[in-house]
Amino acid sequence: MLSKDISLLPYNTFGIDVKANLFVEITEIEDLVQIVKQGNLALPFFILGGGSNLLLTRDVPFLVVKNSIKGKSFNSAGLGKVLVTAGAGENWHEFVVWCLEHNFGGLENLSLIPGTVGAAPIQNIGAYGVELKDVFYSLKAVDLDSGETKIFSREDCNFGYRSSIFKQELKGRYCIVEVSFLLTSEDHIINDNYGAIKSVLNKKAVAHPGIKDIHQAVIDIRRSKLPDPSEIGNAGSFFKNPEISQNHFNKIKAIHPDVPNYPGREGLIKVPAGWLIEQCGWKGKRRGPIGCYDKQALILVNYGGGKGEKIKELSEDIAADVFETFGIKLQREVNVL
Ligand code: FAD
Ligand code: EPU
Repeated sequence: MLSKDISLLPYNTFGIDVKANLFVEITEIEDLVQIVKQGNLALPFFILGGGSNLLLTRDVPFLVVKNSIKGKSFNSAGLGKVLVTAGAGENWHEFVVWCLEHNFGGLENLSLIPGTVGAAPIQNIGAYGVELKDVFYSLKAVDLDSGETKIFSREDCNFGYRSSIFKQELKGRYCIVEVSFLLTSEDHIINDNYGAIKSVLNKKAVAHPGIKDIHQAVIDIRRSKLPDPSEIGNAGSFFKNPEISQNHFNKIKAIHPDVPNYPGREGLIKVPAGWLIEQCGWKGKRRGPIGCYDKQALILVNYGGGKGEKIKELSEDIAADVFETFGIKLQREVNVL
């Protein structure tokens, strides 16, 4: 049922209080197909999942479609593999836990990421050495112009670092309704290369970790440094980690010999945006109810009552400072509306 002038405060983890002009919650694919095919709404659609990668800077003059399509199923794919499918409105972390309860491996490094299954392919979520694309099989989406459903393969999605075709060429064109993953049901692949995972496992004296040990280690690490949105409003990393040329990197390293870095695409060097922001003196800084988180400078926070446009302003000031100091243009990870 369509509702008018609905507050989006309970629907975004930044805790911003703006209104949606029109709002509808869908639990079945058919609900959405019907709304699209009726075609009598003059408003564009905005698809909302858990609102955990979103900064709302104004009342939203769209039809906000809250995707609550549920359902989980699996089929053996043979050779120790299983094809698992979930509705887009399933909570991501609960889905990961369900997979682990069934002894399906592949998603454990992505534990405790907020949001929904349907939004996970949008930015190809990633953490602790694994990206969604590593275990993605296909997805089903509804075309928001025609109401037709379409299947996208891994190749169709054009996944990159915090990117996919749905954040680029097809932005706003489709609503993802179902996602399928190819997981392991035996001989699990253990991804414990990320430094922090290794040290947590060493501390716990876990010599031969299983998928549930990785899951718990990732949860421990995340709880130690990321703010819980139910306590402090935030949307995770505000910017992407930038990739720069070797030449540019050498200039920074000459001044900052300890600059952290990782190999990037095509010979580029990835430098953590959190480090750049901290070097510019922003870590822990507050502007009234908003600020730059004191344990992780890449996260902007709303301590309560903050306005979206003020957070956007703060992010622009931080980005300008990083550009002036290091000559690096930070790109937003968070979707600003
Ligand atoms: P929303 O915020 O609701 O939407 C995000 C975008 O996707 C919007 O543009 C929206 O229109 C679109 N969208 C949502 N659902 C659909 C759909 N079904 N079909 C089409 N478009 C859709 N991200 C990481 O990658 N790695 C992390 O480690 C990580 N850690 C985080 C930690 C915290 C504390 C927080 C708050 C966020 C973190 N994030 C992380 C970001 C966020 O959790 C992910 O991007 C998540 O996938 C967003 O899901 P959502 O359902 O909340 O999406
Ligand atoms: N660092 C600082 N100061 C800070 C924060 C970070 O110096 O305030 C430096 C440290 O050297 C640290 C390095 O940056 O070793 C990396 O920090 P961290 O391990 O916390 O990871 P990140 O690069 O800041 C990325 C993702 C996270 C993901 C983690 C773990 C991006 C934009 N962010 O953060 O994803 O959970 O790695 O894999 O790639 C998100 O996308 O919302 C998100 C939280």
